[in-house]
Amino acid sequence: MQPLQDQVALVTGGSSGIGAGVAKCLAQAGAKVVVNYSSSAEGAQQVVREIESEGGTAISVQADVSQADRVQHLFQQLFDVFGTIDILVNNAGLQKDAAFVDMTLDDWNKVISVNLTGQFLCSQQAVKEFLRRGIVPERSCAAGKIICMSSVHEVIPWAGRCNYAASKGGVMLLMQSMAQELAPQKIRINSIGPGAIQTPINRSAWETPYAKAKLLNLIPYNRIGVVEDIGKAAVWLASDESDYVTGTTLYVDGGMTLYPGFATGG
Ligand SMILES: NC(=O)c1ccc[n+]([C@@H]2O[C@H](COP(=O)([O-])OP(=O)(O)OC[C@H]3O[C@@H](n4cnc5c(N)ncnc54)[C@H](OP(=O)(O)O)[C@@H]3O)[C@@H](O)[C@H]2O)c1
Repeated sequence: MQPLQDQVALVTGGSSGIGAGVAKCLAQAGAKVVVNYSSSAEGAQQVVREIESEGGTAISVQADVSQADRVQHLFQQLFDVFGTIDILVNNAGLQKDAAFVDMTLDDWNKVISVNLTGQFLCSQQAVKEFLRRGIVPERSCAAGKIICMSSVHEVIPWAGRCNYAASKGGVMLLMQSMAQELAPQKIRINSIGPGAIQTPINRSAWETPYAKAKLLNLIPYNRIGVVEDIGKAAVWLASDESDYVTGTTLYVDGGMTLYPGFATGG
């Protein structure tokens, strides 16, 4: 029996990087996976093909998670194919970096609407279905599980990226407030706080030896993360192995949140 056998999972932003890695790990753990994407149809299709080639089940569905009507459509397509949802991974996210004084309102709004409002919209649709359906004991002892992809920047301020840090700080209290409200209904909601994971979003931070060396200074464990590090954490948080865990951020960061500047006395 696989830990997520017969459960249905939606991974937003599953066409690239962490979302693609999480989608594949959930499928390897037995889940049927909806791979959402915004613009990268081919990336999402590639993830679906890889899951199918390993004997898993997946479909890809386009939707901009910041648009309420598109999110409703995304869930309708999921219900049409798989009937219900057990696991939501709120992963879609982006950066639009600029110095604080130069940041445009468009860049602020874009990041907040995808990274934070997108998580609100998708969580609301998932929770409605969890409440309607309730617990199915053969699949899980929870009525539903949500994993919010946050960041170490929910607690570490980030100059030049105040929109991104604000969105992730918002995700932290959105997650905790939803978890508090919905725990009595046996809905578990947690976040993963990745540190530096090698994906297209942070290419400039690892693509040259100089940039990589600078980044490693921030990581006590002395390696850059890979998407499977996050995928394995997501499988655990989605499974009954973590049944008593809700309202928590699991930092998967090689120690980035340990104030590495103080390692030698500060
Ligand atoms: N990589 C890291 O080190 C790191 C660290 C901490 C947190 N995170 C978080 O992890 C998540 C994934 O990041 P990543 O590194 O894997 O980045 P990535 O490779 O750039 O992937 C981002 C994903 O989000 C999707 N997306 C963007 N806007 C969307 C929208 N409006 N609607 C639906 N999907 C949308 C993209 O889909 P399309 O390509 O189809 O647009 C893509 O699949 C983000 O929330 C990010 O903040 C990453």
